[in-house]
Amino acid sequence: MKITRRTVLSAAICLGLGFGIASSAYADKALVLGFSQVGAESEWRTANTASIKDAAKEAGVTLKFADAQQKQENQVKAIRSFIAQKVDVIAFSPVVESGWDTVLGEAKAAKIPVILTDRAVDSKDKSLYVTFIGSDFVEEGRRAGRWLLERAKTMPAGDINIVELQGTVGSAPAIDRKAGFAEIIAANPHLKIIRSQSGDFTRAKGKEVMEAFLKTDGKKINVLYAHNDDMAIGAIQAIEEAGLKPGKDILVISVDGVKGAFEAMMAGKLNVTVECSPLLGPQLMKVAKEVAAGETVPKRITTEEGVFPAEIAAKEFPNRKY
Ligand code: AHR
Repeated sequence: MKITRRTVLSAAICLGLGFGIASSAYADKALVLGFSQVGAESEWRTANTASIKDAAKEAGVTLKFADAQQKQENQVKAIRSFIAQKVDVIAFSPVVESGWDTVLGEAKAAKIPVILTDRAVDSKDKSLYVTFIGSDFVEEGRRAGRWLLERAKTMPAGDINIVELQGTVGSAPAIDRKAGFAEIIAANPHLKIIRSQSGDFTRAKGKEVMEAFLKTDGKKINVLYAHNDDMAIGAIQAIEEAGLKPGKDILVISVDGVKGAFEAMMAGKLNVTVECSPLLGPQLMKVAKEVAAGETVPKRITTEEGVFPAEIAAKEFPNRKY
């Protein structure tokens, strides 16, 4: 085991050199975690922030939390400020994949370990972070694609026109969910993506972009694939305002599995949501403590998730935690 400042402190306390407080409480208090969050763009993100804050409290971790309001420059500033404050560990969910090498190099030079949560970076130098905890976004896209591939078997012959609401441009979930979905639907040449545009993962943007899709393509649209539930919910409103029935005239597929999506499924307006769990807090605190103690952790920690079609929404709803 690598010897660190924290190991030495814990050892000293175990040897009776403590200050009249329990060793675990002292060790927990000693861990300072700087966390830079993407923003508050979706129901998912709100649940993710709550999970991180609650878990930090529960684990006795001192959390320095910074909301980047979906701007990379704010995340870079937050990381630099965590370095200046000499936190024990930095964790962040990168708003976009690219452009992190310089600031992560600064954290490495300051010997502060970095944990990625939820979203990945595309850095070639993997030594810039210790681990990445989060979902497999490509697989989520594939799951959405597989659902449609099956459903298409029951649809009238001919082309099935799909419109796609992408997440934030350049973000890992937008890139990967697009790729995974495209890979699977390629098996059926009748499944055609006729429009694809970013709705930035928000309800307002999802509605706005769907309105534009409906204006140009209206009744030609058979399926909406939204990279998250919030955009799907915004788009559902646009579909209804256009006098069409979401879930029937236009099938709606989305990702996340938030309560709002379950409510939409129970109302017959959304057909399926692919789960992406935001409840990463407890795992993050556990890994942050291990990393701070100098332990080796897996380079990739993948969250386990399912698929929820509308048919099982009512049964599953009481079990949903976010
Ligand atoms: O990175 C996870 C994605 O970001 C979620 O799917 C989306 O809702 C969020 O804003």
